[in-house]
Amino acid sequence: MPPKILVFAGSIRTGSYNARLAAPAAKELTLTGADVTRISLEDYPLPLYDGDAEAQSGVPANARNLRDMMAAHSGVFIASPEYNASVTPLLKNAIDWISRVRERGEPPLAVFKGRAFAIGGASNSPYGAVRSLMALRQVLELGCGALVIPEQVTVFRAGEAFDDNDNLTDDRAANTLKRVLGRLIETAREMA
Ligand SMILES: Cc1cc2nc3c(=O)[nH]c(=O)nc-3n(C[C@H](O)[C@H](O)[C@H](O)COP(=O)(O)O)c2cc1C
Repeated sequence: MPPKILVFAGSIRTGSYNARLAAPAAKELTLTGADVTRISLEDYPLPLYDGDAEAQSGVPANARNLRDMMAAHSGVFIASPEYNASVTPLLKNAIDWISRVRERGEPPLAVFKGRAFAIGGASNSPYGAVRSLMALRQVLELGCGALVIPEQVTVFRAGEAFDDNDNLTDDRAANTLKRVLGRLIETAREMA
């Protein structure tokens, strides 16, 4: 059975560099034999997390939908933009809400603990969103108990890094992406 891999970006901006990074990631995963689902967080709108709202109305349906989407895959690739040396509020809010979903009979955060994660980031800076990846690794590993593979991909000067078909033009970034996704597939297979 091909491993099922979920791909999404932490930005819903039109023309987002990270959505553009998610595109070659999904393409490469498919070529490597994975069964890929690419989603946009735009299709899972969520209010900003508020404990009072949760106490009153419970976890929103879209948080459950995202959690279920994750649960249906054995690997996840997240393309994470960098905002002020960290992750976007959109991505952090989605993770926070997912972490609040409690499935009967499952320990807390089971959805994060049961699958492999890989991360990458694109930014116009010369550092390619690397600080966002450090923050995301902390959130996923320390906060949610996820296994995030050590390899990661950074795409710097993102404005010039993609061609018109959203392929990476830089060999270093393209090869790193390949390596990251190969390891993700391997780890996802082991965890499935
Ligand atoms: C509030 C804010 C903070 C930002 N901080 C950083 C930063 O710390 N490092 C960086 O490389 N880019 C930073 N940027 C630029 C983003 O990397 C850039 O907007 C990028 O296009 C966002 O990713 P996207 O194209 O996937 O939407 C920031 C942008 C915004 C709006």
